[in-house]
Amino acid sequence: MSSQRSGRGEAGTALITGGAGFIGGFLCRKLVARGFRVHLLDNLSRGRRDAFLLERLASDGVELLEQDLGDPEFGARAGVDYSHIFHFAAILGVQQVLEHPYATLRTNVALLEAALDLARRQRALERFVFASTSEVYAGSLEHLDLPIPTPEEVPLALPDLGRPRTAYMLSKLYGEALVRHSELPQTIVRPHNVYGPRMGNAHVIPQLLERAHRLAPGEALEVFSVDHSRCFCFVEDAVEMLARVALEPRGRGRVLNLGSPGPEIRMDALAELILRTVGRTAVIAPRPATPGSPARRCPDMREMEAVTGFRAATRLEEGVRRTYEWYRPEFESRPEATAP
Ligand SMILES: NC(=O)c1ccc[n+]([C@@H]2O[C@H](COP(=O)([O-])OP(=O)(O)OC[C@H]3O[C@@H](n4cnc5c(N)ncnc54)[C@H](O)[C@@H]3O)[C@@H](O)[C@H]2O)c1
Repeated sequence: MSSQRSGRGEAGTALITGGAGFIGGFLCRKLVARGFRVHLLDNLSRGRRDAFLLERLASDGVELLEQDLGDPEFGARAGVDYSHIFHFAAILGVQQVLEHPYATLRTNVALLEAALDLARRQRALERFVFASTSEVYAGSLEHLDLPIPTPEEVPLALPDLGRPRTAYMLSKLYGEALVRHSELPQTIVRPHNVYGPRMGNAHVIPQLLERAHRLAPGEALEVFSVDHSRCFCFVEDAVEMLARVALEPRGRGRVLNLGSPGPEIRMDALAELILRTVGRTAVIAPRPATPGSPARRCPDMREMEAVTGFRAATRLEEGVRRTYEWYRPEFESRPEATAP
Protein backbone atom coordinates (compact mmCIF):
# COMPACT_ATOMS: atom_id res chain seq x y z
CA MET A 1 0.00 0.00 0.00
CA SER A 2 1.40 3.43 -0.82
CA SER A 3 1.85 5.99 1.95
CA GLN A 4 -0.50 8.20 -0.04
CA ARG A 5 -3.36 5.71 0.09
CA SER A 6 -2.82 4.61 3.68
CA GLY A 7 -2.29 8.14 4.88
CA ARG A 8 0.79 6.78 6.69
CA GLY A 9 2.57 9.58 8.46
CA GLU A 10 -0.50 11.77 8.78
CA ALA A 11 -0.41 11.32 12.54
CA GLY A 12 3.33 12.14 12.60
CA THR A 13 6.65 10.34 12.61
CA ALA A 14 7.68 8.56 15.77
CA LEU A 15 11.16 7.46 16.79
CA ILE A 16 11.39 4.59 19.25
CA THR A 17 14.88 4.12 20.69
CA GLY A 18 15.21 0.45 21.65
CA GLY A 19 12.41 -0.07 19.14
CA ALA A 20 13.39 -3.65 18.22
CA GLY A 21 12.92 -4.66 21.86
CA PHE A 22 9.91 -5.97 23.72
CA ILE A 23 7.73 -2.92 24.45
CA GLY A 24 9.10 -1.00 21.44
CA GLY A 25 8.02 -3.69 18.98
CA PHE A 26 4.44 -3.76 20.24
CA LEU A 27 4.29 0.02 20.44
CA CYS A 28 5.42 0.19 16.80
CA ARG A 29 2.44 -1.93 15.76
CA LYS A 30 0.08 0.28 17.78
CA LEU A 31 1.46 3.52 16.33
CA VAL A 32 1.32 2.21 12.76
CA ALA A 33 -2.35 1.36 13.31
CA ARG A 34 -2.84 5.00 14.33
CA GLY A 35 -1.32 6.38 11.14
CA PHE A 36 2.26 7.03 12.28
CA ARG A 37 5.44 6.48 10.35
CA VAL A 38 7.78 4.77 12.81
CA HIS A 39 11.56 4.60 13.00
CA LEU A 40 12.95 1.87 15.26
CA LEU A 41 16.43 2.75 16.45
CA ASP A 42 18.18 -0.28 17.91
CA ASN A 43 21.69 -1.73 18.03
CA LEU A 44 20.14 -5.21 18.37
CA SER A 45 22.14 -5.86 21.55
CA ARG A 46 18.95 -7.39 22.93
CA GLY A 47 16.26 -6.73 20.36
CA ARG A 48 16.06 -9.41 17.67
CA ARG A 49 15.49 -9.40 13.94
CA ASP A 50 12.87 -12.14 14.32
CA ALA A 51 9.60 -12.85 12.50
CA PHE A 52 7.75 -10.29 14.65
CA LEU A 53 10.22 -7.53 13.80
CA LEU A 54 10.25 -8.46 10.10
CA GLU A 55 6.45 -8.21 10.12
CA ARG A 56 6.70 -4.69 11.58
CA LEU A 57 9.28 -3.75 8.94
CA ALA A 58 6.96 -4.97 6.20
CA SER A 59 4.46 -2.24 7.18
CA ASP A 60 4.47 0.88 5.11
CA GLY A 61 6.42 3.65 6.85
CA VAL A 62 8.35 1.49 9.35
CA GLU A 63 12.14 1.56 9.22
CA LEU A 64 14.82 -0.07 11.34
CA LEU A 65 17.78 2.19 12.04
CA GLU A 66 20.34 -0.35 13.13
CA GLN A 67 22.59 1.95 15.13
CA ASP A 68 23.98 2.49 18.57
CA LEU A 69 22.20 5.48 20.08
CA GLY A 70 25.46 6.36 21.82
CA ASP A 71 27.22 6.73 18.48
CA PRO A 72 27.81 10.50 18.00
CA GLU A 73 27.69 10.01 14.23
CA PHE A 74 24.08 8.90 14.50
CA GLY A 75 22.94 12.06 16.26
CA ALA A 76 24.54 14.20 13.59
CA ARG A 77 22.88 12.31 10.73
CA ALA A 78 19.46 11.67 12.28
CA GLY A 79 16.33 13.15 10.75
CA VAL A 80 14.65 16.24 12.07
CA ASP A 81 11.00 15.59 11.64
CA TYR A 82 10.08 13.42 14.59
CA SER A 83 6.82 14.44 16.18
CA HIS A 84 7.15 11.88 18.98
CA ILE A 85 10.23 10.29 20.52
CA PHE A 86 9.89 7.30 22.84
CA HIS A 87 13.15 6.64 24.66
CA PHE A 88 13.43 2.98 25.68
CA ALA A 89 17.04 2.02 24.88
CA ALA A 90 18.86 1.14 28.09
CA ILE A 91 20.86 -1.46 29.95
CA LEU A 92 18.28 -3.38 31.95
CA GLY A 93 17.51 -6.82 33.33
CA VAL A 94 18.55 -7.82 36.84
CA GLN A 95 21.45 -10.05 35.74
CA GLN A 96 22.96 -7.44 33.41
CA VAL A 97 22.65 -4.73 36.05
CA LEU A 98 24.14 -6.89 38.83
CA GLU A 99 27.11 -7.76 36.62
CA HIS A 100 27.65 -4.25 35.20
CA PRO A 101 26.44 -1.57 37.66
CA TYR A 102 29.00 1.01 36.54
CA ALA A 103 28.15 0.55 32.86
CA THR A 104 24.44 0.65 33.69
CA LEU A 105 24.75 4.06 35.33
CA ARG A 106 27.02 5.54 32.69
CA THR A 107 25.34 4.08 29.63
CA ASN A 108 21.76 4.77 30.62
CA VAL A 109 22.53 8.40 31.35
CA ALA A 110 24.59 8.78 28.15
CA LEU A 111 21.84 7.20 26.01
CA LEU A 112 19.24 9.49 27.52
CA GLU A 113 21.43 12.53 26.89
CA ALA A 114 21.80 11.45 23.26
CA ALA A 115 18.03 11.05 22.94
CA LEU A 116 17.40 14.46 24.54
CA ASP A 117 19.94 16.15 22.23
CA LEU A 118 18.20 14.58 19.26
CA ALA A 119 14.81 15.68 20.60
CA ARG A 120 16.02 19.27 20.96
CA ARG A 121 16.89 19.39 17.28
CA GLN A 122 13.41 18.38 16.08
CA ARG A 123 11.51 21.17 14.37
CA ALA A 124 8.11 20.32 15.77
CA LEU A 125 8.46 17.80 18.55
CA GLU A 126 5.13 17.15 20.20
CA ARG A 127 6.24 14.74 22.89
CA PHE A 128 9.31 13.08 24.39
CA VAL A 129 8.32 9.97 26.34
CA PHE A 130 10.86 8.52 28.76
CA ALA A 131 10.53 4.99 30.14
CA SER A 132 11.66 5.15 33.76
CA THR A 133 10.88 2.19 36.05
CA SER A 134 8.80 1.00 38.99
CA GLU A 135 12.16 0.36 40.70
CA VAL A 136 12.24 4.06 41.63
CA TYR A 137 9.93 3.07 44.52
CA ALA A 138 12.33 0.36 45.83
CA GLY A 139 14.02 2.61 48.41
CA SER A 140 10.70 3.93 49.67
CA LEU A 141 9.44 0.38 50.15
CA GLU A 142 12.58 -0.35 52.16
CA HIS A 143 12.83 2.83 54.26
CA LEU A 144 9.43 4.54 54.30
CA ASP A 145 5.85 3.52 54.70
CA LEU A 146 5.12 2.90 51.00
CA PRO A 147 1.41 2.81 50.20
CA ILE A 148 0.37 -0.07 47.95
CA PRO A 149 -1.10 0.51 45.38
CA THR A 150 1.62 3.15 45.00
CA PRO A 151 0.72 6.61 43.69
CA GLU A 152 3.29 8.58 41.70
CA GLU A 153 3.73 11.39 44.22
CA VAL A 154 5.10 9.30 47.14
CA PRO A 155 8.44 10.57 48.50
CA LEU A 156 11.29 8.64 46.91
CA ALA A 157 14.02 7.22 49.15
CA LEU A 158 17.26 5.70 47.87
CA PRO A 159 18.35 2.13 48.50
CA ASP A 160 22.03 1.58 49.44
CA LEU A 161 24.13 3.12 46.64
CA GLY A 162 26.74 0.39 47.13
CA ARG A 163 24.29 -2.28 46.00
CA PRO A 164 24.75 -3.04 42.31
CA ARG A 165 20.99 -3.29 41.74
CA THR A 166 20.59 0.36 42.81
CA ALA A 167 22.52 1.43 39.68
CA TYR A 168 19.52 0.78 37.43
CA MET A 169 16.95 2.67 39.49
CA LEU A 170 19.38 5.52 40.06
CA SER A 171 20.08 5.84 36.32
CA LYS A 172 16.33 6.06 35.73
CA LEU A 173 15.70 8.47 38.62
CA TYR A 174 18.48 10.78 37.46
CA GLY A 175 16.98 10.35 33.98
CA GLU A 176 13.59 11.51 35.24
CA ALA A 177 15.25 14.66 36.62
CA LEU A 178 17.12 15.28 33.35
CA VAL A 179 13.91 14.97 31.36
CA ARG A 180 11.97 17.21 33.74
CA HIS A 181 14.59 19.98 33.44
CA SER A 182 14.97 19.57 29.67
CA GLU A 183 12.10 21.97 28.92
CA LEU A 184 10.91 19.59 26.20
CA PRO A 185 7.25 18.62 25.88
CA GLN A 186 7.50 15.43 27.90
CA THR A 187 5.88 12.49 29.63
CA ILE A 188 7.67 10.17 32.06
CA VAL A 189 6.22 6.71 32.56
CA ARG A 190 7.17 4.18 35.24
CA PRO A 191 6.50 0.71 33.80
CA HIS A 192 5.47 -2.00 36.28
CA ASN A 193 6.01 -5.65 35.31
CA VAL A 194 4.95 -5.55 31.68
CA TYR A 195 4.83 -9.08 30.24
CA GLY A 196 3.92 -10.84 27.03
CA PRO A 197 5.29 -12.57 23.95
CA ARG A 198 8.86 -11.74 22.95
CA MET A 199 9.92 -10.35 26.33
CA GLY A 200 13.16 -12.37 26.44
CA ASN A 201 13.85 -15.12 28.94
CA ALA A 202 15.16 -13.22 31.94
CA HIS A 203 11.76 -12.57 33.53
CA VAL A 204 9.61 -14.51 35.94
CA ILE A 205 6.73 -15.36 33.57
CA PRO A 206 8.78 -16.87 30.70
CA GLN A 207 11.07 -18.57 33.23
CA LEU A 208 8.16 -20.22 35.07
CA LEU A 209 6.52 -21.13 31.75
CA GLU A 210 9.73 -22.81 30.62
CA ARG A 211 10.28 -24.65 33.91
CA ALA A 212 6.66 -25.85 33.92
CA HIS A 213 6.88 -26.86 30.26
CA ARG A 214 10.00 -28.97 30.90
CA LEU A 215 8.90 -30.58 34.21
CA ALA A 216 9.64 -34.29 34.43
CA PRO A 217 6.81 -36.45 35.84
CA GLY A 218 6.73 -36.10 39.63
CA GLU A 219 9.20 -33.20 39.62
CA ALA A 220 8.39 -30.14 41.78
CA LEU A 221 8.20 -26.66 40.26
CA GLU A 222 10.85 -24.38 41.80
CA VAL A 223 9.52 -20.91 42.62
CA PHE A 224 11.77 -18.14 43.90
CA SER A 225 10.53 -15.26 46.12
CA VAL A 226 7.39 -17.31 46.64
CA ASP A 227 5.63 -14.83 48.96
CA HIS A 228 6.47 -11.76 46.84
CA SER A 229 3.63 -10.22 44.87
CA ARG A 230 3.24 -8.16 41.72
CA CYS A 231 0.58 -6.61 39.48
CA PHE A 232 1.40 -7.80 35.95
CA CYS A 233 0.43 -5.77 32.90
CA PHE A 234 -0.05 -7.39 29.48
CA VAL A 235 2.05 -5.66 26.84
CA GLU A 236 -0.94 -4.85 24.59
CA ASP A 237 -2.47 -2.87 27.45
CA ALA A 238 0.84 -1.14 28.18
CA VAL A 239 1.28 0.07 24.60
CA GLU A 240 -2.33 1.25 24.39
CA MET A 241 -1.60 3.45 27.42
CA LEU A 242 1.70 4.64 25.92
CA ALA A 243 0.10 5.65 22.63
CA ARG A 244 -2.77 7.41 24.37
CA VAL A 245 -0.64 9.27 26.89
CA ALA A 246 1.73 10.49 24.15
CA LEU A 247 -1.15 11.87 22.07
CA GLU A 248 -3.24 13.25 24.89
CA PRO A 249 -2.46 16.92 25.68
CA ARG A 250 -3.15 16.26 29.37
CA GLY A 251 -0.32 13.70 29.36
CA ARG A 252 2.21 16.48 28.81
CA GLY A 253 4.43 17.26 31.80
CA ARG A 254 3.19 14.25 33.75
CA VAL A 255 4.99 11.44 35.60
CA LEU A 256 2.70 8.42 35.44
CA ASN A 257 2.70 4.79 36.45
CA LEU A 258 2.38 2.41 33.50
CA GLY A 259 0.91 -0.91 34.53
CA SER A 260 -2.12 -2.75 35.73
CA PRO A 261 -4.10 -1.87 38.85
CA GLY A 262 -4.25 -5.57 39.71
CA PRO A 263 -5.16 -8.02 40.95
CA GLU A 264 -1.91 -8.30 42.89
CA ILE A 265 -0.70 -11.90 42.74
CA ARG A 266 1.82 -13.85 44.83
CA MET A 267 4.50 -15.84 43.02
CA ASP A 268 3.10 -19.17 44.27
CA ALA A 269 -0.36 -18.28 42.88
CA LEU A 270 1.28 -17.21 39.61
CA ALA A 271 3.07 -20.57 39.49
CA GLU A 272 -0.26 -22.39 39.96
CA LEU A 273 -1.79 -20.36 37.12
CA ILE A 274 1.19 -21.19 34.93
CA LEU A 275 0.91 -24.91 35.68
CA ARG A 276 -2.75 -24.78 34.64
CA THR A 277 -1.82 -22.90 31.45
CA VAL A 278 0.84 -25.43 30.52
CA GLY A 279 -1.49 -28.31 31.48
CA ARG A 280 0.73 -29.79 34.21
CA THR A 281 0.28 -30.67 37.86
CA ALA A 282 3.19 -30.38 40.27
CA VAL A 283 3.90 -29.35 43.82
CA ILE A 284 5.59 -26.03 44.30
CA ALA A 285 9.10 -26.05 45.77
CA PRO A 286 9.64 -22.66 47.43
CA ARG A 287 13.11 -21.22 46.89
CA PRO A 288 14.70 -18.15 48.56
CA ALA A 289 13.90 -14.60 47.56
CA THR A 290 16.03 -13.14 44.78
CA PRO A 291 18.38 -10.60 46.51
CA GLY A 292 17.05 -7.04 46.31
CA SER A 293 13.70 -8.09 44.85
CA PRO A 294 10.95 -5.90 46.38
CA ALA A 295 8.41 -7.95 48.35
CA ARG A 296 5.42 -6.11 46.88
CA ARG A 297 4.88 -3.93 43.85
CA CYS A 298 1.57 -2.65 42.60
CA PRO A 299 0.91 0.72 40.95
CA ASP A 300 -1.92 3.11 41.67
CA MET A 301 -3.27 3.59 38.13
CA ARG A 302 -5.88 6.27 38.81
CA GLU A 303 -3.86 9.15 37.34
CA MET A 304 -3.02 7.27 34.14
CA GLU A 305 -6.66 6.28 33.77
CA ALA A 306 -7.79 9.86 34.32
CA VAL A 307 -5.42 11.09 31.59
CA THR A 308 -5.94 8.31 29.02
CA GLY A 309 -9.44 7.04 29.82
CA PHE A 310 -7.93 3.56 29.66
CA ARG A 311 -7.33 0.86 32.25
CA ALA A 312 -5.43 -2.39 31.65
CA ALA A 313 -8.07 -5.07 31.32
CA THR A 314 -6.40 -8.22 29.97
CA ARG A 315 -6.89 -10.95 32.55
CA LEU A 316 -3.68 -12.59 33.70
CA GLU A 317 -5.00 -16.03 32.59
CA GLU A 318 -5.52 -14.67 29.07
CA GLY A 319 -2.19 -12.83 28.89
CA VAL A 320 -0.23 -15.82 30.20
CA ARG A 321 -2.01 -18.10 27.72
CA ARG A 322 -1.05 -15.82 24.83
CA THR A 323 2.50 -15.58 26.14
CA TYR A 324 2.78 -19.37 26.36
CA GLU A 325 1.42 -19.77 22.81
CA TRP A 326 4.30 -17.60 21.64
CA TYR A 327 7.04 -19.27 23.74
CA ARG A 328 5.96 -22.89 23.30
CA PRO A 329 7.47 -23.41 19.80
CA GLU A 330 10.67 -21.77 21.05
CA PHE A 331 10.87 -24.16 24.04
CA GLU A 332 10.19 -27.09 21.73
CA SER A 333 12.89 -26.05 19.28
CA ARG A 334 15.50 -25.80 22.08
CA PRO A 335 16.29 -29.07 23.83
CA GLU A 336 17.88 -27.37 26.83
CA ALA A 337 16.39 -24.88 29.27
CA THR A 338 17.69 -21.30 29.12
CA ALA A 339 20.26 -20.68 31.82
CA PRO A 340 18.64 -18.53 34.53
N1 LIG B 1 9.41 -4.48 30.56
C1 LIG B 1 9.15 -3.94 31.74
O1 LIG B 1 8.32 -4.43 32.52
C2 LIG B 1 9.84 -2.67 32.17
C3 LIG B 1 9.79 -2.31 33.53
C4 LIG B 1 10.42 -1.15 33.93
C5 LIG B 1 11.05 -0.34 33.00
N2 LIG B 1 11.09 -0.70 31.68
C6 LIG B 1 11.81 0.19 30.76
O2 LIG B 1 11.10 0.24 29.52
C7 LIG B 1 12.01 0.30 28.43
C8 LIG B 1 11.71 -0.82 27.43
O3 LIG B 1 11.83 -2.07 28.10
P1 LIG B 1 11.78 -3.46 27.32
O4 LIG B 1 11.29 -4.46 28.29
O5 LIG B 1 11.12 -3.28 26.02
O6 LIG B 1 13.36 -3.71 27.12
P2 LIG B 1 14.14 -4.42 25.91
O7 LIG B 1 15.47 -4.85 26.44
O8 LIG B 1 13.29 -5.46 25.26
O9 LIG B 1 14.35 -3.21 24.88
C9 LIG B 1 15.42 -2.32 24.96
C10 LIG B 1 16.05 -2.24 23.58
O10 LIG B 1 17.09 -1.26 23.62
C11 LIG B 1 18.10 -1.72 22.72
N3 LIG B 1 19.36 -1.02 23.08
C12 LIG B 1 20.08 -1.18 24.21
N4 LIG B 1 21.18 -0.38 24.17
C13 LIG B 1 21.11 0.30 22.98
C14 LIG B 1 21.95 1.28 22.36
N5 LIG B 1 23.09 1.68 22.94
N6 LIG B 1 21.58 1.77 21.15
C15 LIG B 1 20.45 1.34 20.55
N7 LIG B 1 19.62 0.41 21.09
C16 LIG B 1 19.96 -0.10 22.28
C17 LIG B 1 18.17 -3.23 22.93
O11 LIG B 1 18.75 -3.92 21.82
C18 LIG B 1 16.69 -3.57 23.12
O12 LIG B 1 16.09 -3.95 21.88
C19 LIG B 1 13.42 0.21 29.03
O13 LIG B 1 13.97 1.51 29.11
C20 LIG B 1 13.20 -0.34 30.42
O14 LIG B 1 14.18 0.12 31.33
C21 LIG B 1 10.51 -1.87 31.26
